[in-house]
Order: sequence, then structure tokens, then C-alpha cells
Amino acid sequence: MSGSLLIDNIGELVTNSPGNGPLGIRRDAAVLAEEGRVVWVGPSAYAPAADRRIDAGGAAVLPGFVDSHAHLVFAGDRAAEFAARMAGQPYTGGGIRTTVGATRAATDEELRATVRRLHGEALRQGTTTIEIKSGYGLTVADEARSLRIAAETSTETTFLGAHVVPAEYADRPDDYVGLVCGPMLAAAAPYAKWIDVFCERGAFDVDHARAILACGQAAGLGVRLHANQLGPGPGVQLGVELGAASVDHCTYLSDADVDALASTTVDWMCGSSTTTVATLLPGAEFSTRSPYPDARRLLDAGVTVALATDCNPGSSYTSSMPFCVALAVREMRMTPAEAVWAATAGGARALRRDDIGVLTPGARADLVVLDAPSHLHLAYRPGVPLIRQVIRNGVPQ
Ligand code: NIG
Ligand code: FE
Repeated sequence: MSGSLLIDNIGELVTNSPGNGPLGIRRDAAVLAEEGRVVWVGPSAYAPAADRRIDAGGAAVLPGFVDSHAHLVFAGDRAAEFAARMAGQPYTGGGIRTTVGATRAATDEELRATVRRLHGEALRQGTTTIEIKSGYGLTVADEARSLRIAAETSTETTFLGAHVVPAEYADRPDDYVGLVCGPMLAAAAPYAKWIDVFCERGAFDVDHARAILACGQAAGLGVRLHANQLGPGPGVQLGVELGAASVDHCTYLSDADVDALASTTVDWMCGSSTTTVATLLPGAEFSTRSPYPDARRLLDAGVTVALATDCNPGSSYTSSMPFCVALAVREMRMTPAEAVWAATAGGARALRRDDIGVLTPGARADLVVLDAPSHLHLAYRPGVPLIRQVIRNGVPQ
């Protein structure tokens, strides 16, 4: 967009740049954006003139949230399954096939409307970048159209043909893996940046996951992985072995899993990262009434942690990053600063992006103005709509 935009009179600016604590906080600050980029950050009293001005009125401003894990392309809902869980049923992932049936039966326009609705919801809650997975089509045509529709909304699109083995392949999973690696990947790859596998008992075992992810890498896709959500397993270490950008869920981890993740953390400022981020999805534990992952253990070991919503109709039907921040602080013993960092810069690292999740010159001008004086209020005032204004690509939304 042309023209400049100044946001001034910021009481607390979270930059996520090194220095001034983990969040790189500046007081009484201002941010100037031009052509969708941050071009200047400094004291509000010295702010340059701009074509447009937003007076933050002493409020806190943060980088827009980076939701690095969401499943937005689906049809139907599973409210009855949620109610059954709240009455004591366990979550097994078995409901995925219910959503697959509804998604296959939906028109493109219905799927597109759901993506737009959820994306709008997320944006209003401060999310300026969202990753979108396929995974509820599970045929060549339905996975390709899911990604085509996802790509209309986000550049961070992920091929999840290996979400579960669909019913028609139930007794021949090897054949389904062949389909995923062959024609399905070929049809999906033009619309996808990443490949993902649900590596879990009842979904894909480690050999199938390794084979599928290797095919995706050979097709030029980056690797991410659902791992160790429902029980311990080899998924996390497979992710590290393959240089995954992120392993997601990480609810059941051994010491060796934590060590493997910690061994990948490198200094982001030193250049392109090979870090495998642990992306924690507390909305899933909330909505499945499961034990939360031990974020403290990961952080204390030096693992890079991200927070994301896992927005999907089964295990976590929330698009709210502020809700995830509050859960992470209350239930996972993250400090408010750690949780805000994980929901912004952490998400960016899980997507291997250095142009988002920070507010420094050169970064994308994606900002959130809170209806609060400090980032602390995101956890301190849970459930309260604290997102006053969202600016994406330098454009007030
Ligand atoms: O991330 N774990 C696998 N996939 C989703 C659940 C999808 C569903 O239940 O529909 C998840 O939790
Ligand atoms: Fe997921």
C-alpha cells in the first residue's frame, strides 16, 4: 500500500528484538510503517510525520500473533463429540473421519466460506499470519482443492494427506501411503509450502511418516509433524532427524525427546535456522480434557517453544491466540512474557520466518494495539476482548 502510517503514544511496545528482556520492550514508543514494512521504531516524542496516524493512547502494542498450526478447511462441526468428551469419553482422533465425510460432500464455496469465516475470526483476535493445513479431504482431488482454497488466504499452506488413513484404505494402509507419496503429493505440491504427518498410534507409524515426509522434502516442501499428542512415541525424534521446522503437540515427551529438541536450538541471529521448534497447542488439551504439555521442562532445557491454536472442528475449535496465551500461562507454567514471545516470535520461527513476529525495521508491519497497558493483561484478563486494533501489512483492518 502507498503512504506511511505512524502508530505513536505506545505505552509498552513489544518488539521481540534482543535486549530489554525477552520481549525487547520499549516504553513511550512509536512505529512508522511504509509500504507494508516497519521503517522506524523509536521514542514517541521523536516520531517522524506520516500520512496517517494512530494514537495508541498509552496502550500496549505487540507484533501480530503468528498462528503456526491450524486446520481451517473442513465442513461440519463435532459439537456432539465435544459434549461426549466433557461427559467422560476420551479423545482418540477417530472423529477425524467424520469431518472427512462432511468435507468431501461440501462444495468449494462452502469450504471457502469456512476458511474466510475462521480467518476473519482469527484476525479480529490479533492473528496476522496463519498456517492452514489440508487433511480432511484425503483423496487426490479433495486434498488438492483444500490446499487451493487455503492458498487463497495464506502463503503458509501445509499438505496433511497423512492425517489418518481414510476408511476406504483401512485394511491397506501401505496403499494409502503410496497414494499420498505419489499422485496426491503431485496434485497438492503446487499449492503447499509444507508437508505434515499425524505420527501417532491409530494414525501413521514412524516408518510411514518417514517415507511420506521424505517424499515431501524431495518435492521441495518443508517438514512439520504432529507428534507425541496422545502418548509417547518416536515422532519428535523423527522430526529432529529430518530437520523439521516444528514438531507440534509434544504432550508426552521422554528426556531423550527434550534433549533432541534442545540440541537443535541455534542462535537465530546467526543466520538461517535449523531449529526444530516445539509448538504447543493448549487449546487441544483444554478441549479434550487431557494433561497439558510441560512447557517449563522444554523452556528450561533451552528448547524454542511456539504456541498455536490447532483450530479444527474436533480437538480444538478455537481461533483465539489470546486464549492460548492465557492457557499457557495458567496451565503450562509459562510466564506471560514467554507465552507472548511464543505466540509471536515463536510462531514465526516455527514457520522459519524472520520477517514476522518482530517489530524492528524491515519487518512486516503486522501489529496489534491492545485495550490494555501491558502484554501481561492477555493472561491477567482471560476471555476479555483486548484486541483494540489490528494492522496487517501496514493496513488498519
Ligand atoms: O491436531 N492430531 C491430529 N489432528 C488434529 C485433530 C483433528 C480432529 O480431531 O479433527 C489435531 O489435534
Ligand atoms: Fe493439528
